[in-house]
Amino acid sequence: MEVVGGEVDYTFVIQKSLVLLLCVVLSWKMIVYMCNLLKIEKEPIRVLVTGAAGNIGYAISPMIARGMMLGQDQPMILHLLDIEPASKSLEAVKMELQDSAFPLLHGVFATTNIDEACKGVNIAIMIGGFARKEGMERRDVMSKNAVIFKAQASALERYASDDCKVLVVANPANTNALILKEFAPSIPEENITCLTRLDHNRAQARLAEKLSVPVSSVKNVIVWGNHSSTQYPDSNHATVSTKTGDQPVRELLVADQKWLKNEFSTEVQQRGAEILRARRQSSALSAASAACDHIHDWFLGTPKGSWVSMGVCSDGSYGIAPGLVYSFPVICEKGSWKIVQGLSIDEFSREKMDDSARELAEEKALAYSCLNV
Ligand SMILES: NC(=O)c1ccc[n+]([C@@H]2O[C@H](COP(=O)([O-])OP(=O)(O)OC[C@H]3O[C@@H](n4cnc5c(N)ncnc54)[C@H](O)[C@@H]3O)[C@@H](O)[C@H]2O)c1
Repeated sequence: MEVVGGEVDYTFVIQKSLVLLLCVVLSWKMIVYMCNLLKIEKEPIRVLVTGAAGNIGYAISPMIARGMMLGQDQPMILHLLDIEPASKSLEAVKMELQDSAFPLLHGVFATTNIDEACKGVNIAIMIGGFARKEGMERRDVMSKNAVIFKAQASALERYASDDCKVLVVANPANTNALILKEFAPSIPEENITCLTRLDHNRAQARLAEKLSVPVSSVKNVIVWGNHSSTQYPDSNHATVSTKTGDQPVRELLVADQKWLKNEFSTEVQQRGAEILRARRQSSALSAASAACDHIHDWFLGTPKGSWVSMGVCSDGSYGIAPGLVYSFPVICEKGSWKIVQGLSIDEFSREKMDDSARELAEEKALAYSCLNV
């Protein structure tokens, strides 16, 4: 403290206090300014949902609008597409979304015109397709979907945003994605994926039930291959988080090796059929939720130390023919995915993985022959 001639210099003290106060006020103002800057609302992302009047479309639209897919700070504009016979139901979906007053939903655009639907979209969730009817040949179903996906690929190619990311849900999902990739060459192939997350989630849930643990404590199951009954749900690398750290599922279920090898896979593979029998309609809620999970993790990243299953274009990893759209374990970061490398594959797994790859190669040949490629 300044002391002049044995006395305290109050003018000096007041001056110092004022300067200090000014610094505090300025710093506070800067903090508030920075916070406001960070709070600036993000630009809305345009999300296309095809088959929006259908079962999954009806379930997924409110999930997206509530922020389950892109996070609670990301506004969006929904582009809903369906075909002319479903136009009234489509309009009803739009009205219900508007009436829900979702704060993040900045607009809903419903149309039966594929070109209009694709304009400027950043994310495309392709749910609409031709469903197999009783007595129909596999070739006929493949042919109808190949034609649909070829046309939709061209529309995305022409009208979607350059950075558009695509998730194919409609079956046969892997091969529909492959056709889309072939006929939309300007969309980077890493931006075209298909949904196997439902199977992944089912596998995780089945293990959690068997072990009587919360589903969130199970991680790193894998679904390899096709989204069909040849898919291979693999528990070999799955772990459960316990108080003493992560423990391999195989060690915890050491007395259930037969169950892990057989029933576990069959139950996951047949879960869709089981729901269809019970509900007389195919799974919609869990499929919609899985599609949200897929995009969520792709955009916002997978949690550290865990991976998810995604149908992606094979680069030859694990001996799977390059070019097939195959389900692999992937890690996502900053909007990109990469296949988890270096996992040990036993003989049993190898056989199952190859069976599914073989089926995909056959589907590819069938689709190409339908399109005369
Ligand atoms: N990959 C997966 O995990 C998974 C899971 C469940 C269902 N699926 C598949 O998802 C698809 C949709 O299932 P759903 O239960 O919603 O079926 P749905 O029959 O209830 O709905 C399909 C909708 O797509 C529309 N549609 C048909 N052709 C179209 C086109 N060319 N363009 C736009 N819309 C079109 C239909 O009018 C209908 O509204 C099916 O192919 C189903 O097999 C995939």
